[in-house]
Amino acid sequence: MEVIIQPTPEAASQVAARLIARLFREKPAAVLGLATGSTPVLLYRELVRMKLDWQRVTTFNLDEYVGLAPDHPASYHHLMEENLFRHVNIHAENVHIPDGQAQNIPEFCQGYEAQIRAGGGIDLQVLGIGTDGHIGFNEPTSSLASRTRIKTLTLETRRDNAHFFGSEDAVPRHVITMGIGTILDARNILLLAFGDHKAAAVAGAVEGPVSAMNPASALQLHPLVTFVVDKAAASVLRKTEYYRWVYDNKPNWQRA
Ligand code: F6R
Repeated sequence: MEVIIQPTPEAASQVAARLIARLFREKPAAVLGLATGSTPVLLYRELVRMKLDWQRVTTFNLDEYVGLAPDHPASYHHLMEENLFRHVNIHAENVHIPDGQAQNIPEFCQGYEAQIRAGGGIDLQVLGIGTDGHIGFNEPTSSLASRTRIKTLTLETRRDNAHFFGSEDAVPRHVITMGIGTILDARNILLLAFGDHKAAAVAGAVEGPVSAMNPASALQLHPLVTFVVDKAAASVLRKTEYYRWVYDNKPNWQRA
């Protein structure tokens, strides 16, 4: 696991964007896993600014709220369209986001897994992290082997996301999310976290025991994970000096 600490969310998002740009250079037909929420918005802005070629790129989003239409202003379809897809030359048929209005959710979820497999698997999965350690919407006690399925949000997550909906009551109770097992199948994982409200979850994920109580700690089981965090999100980590030392002494070929 690599931890890259940057002074600000902007600087961290630039590092993340460079990692994605490098992937596109090496593999123009890359398969990207994407996250939503507030955290990756700066990354998407930076990717748009870089004018990369998305012509052959395929994307799979982590999650969507059950019951929301794609044009609902708080849906993840809407967030992705507004912040990324309508600004780049990606083909609509290459964009995949769980369907919050699926009639048969288990069948939809199986199909989503099959689509990921048929696309050759995810080359790089972008993640945020919840204050309770969730990745995707895999809340604490999610199976570390879970696949795409319906989940019930915790009260904490509904509170954290109330600002997207105007009130806590308006936040849907259920979501469709890739599972932790689905996420761990990605060839590379890039997790972004900003702000001191994320510091405890980040420290638990990187330095805590692997536990379903902090779902992001499952990332310790994956061979190629990079956390790109700002100073505030790194503030509870114990080995920050070592992480900085590793980054400053990277061999040239490893630099983005
Ligand atoms: C969203 C997702 C979630 C968020 C997490 C953090 O697709 O998968 O895990 O990354 O809830 O949300 P923000 O970035 O709004 O703090």
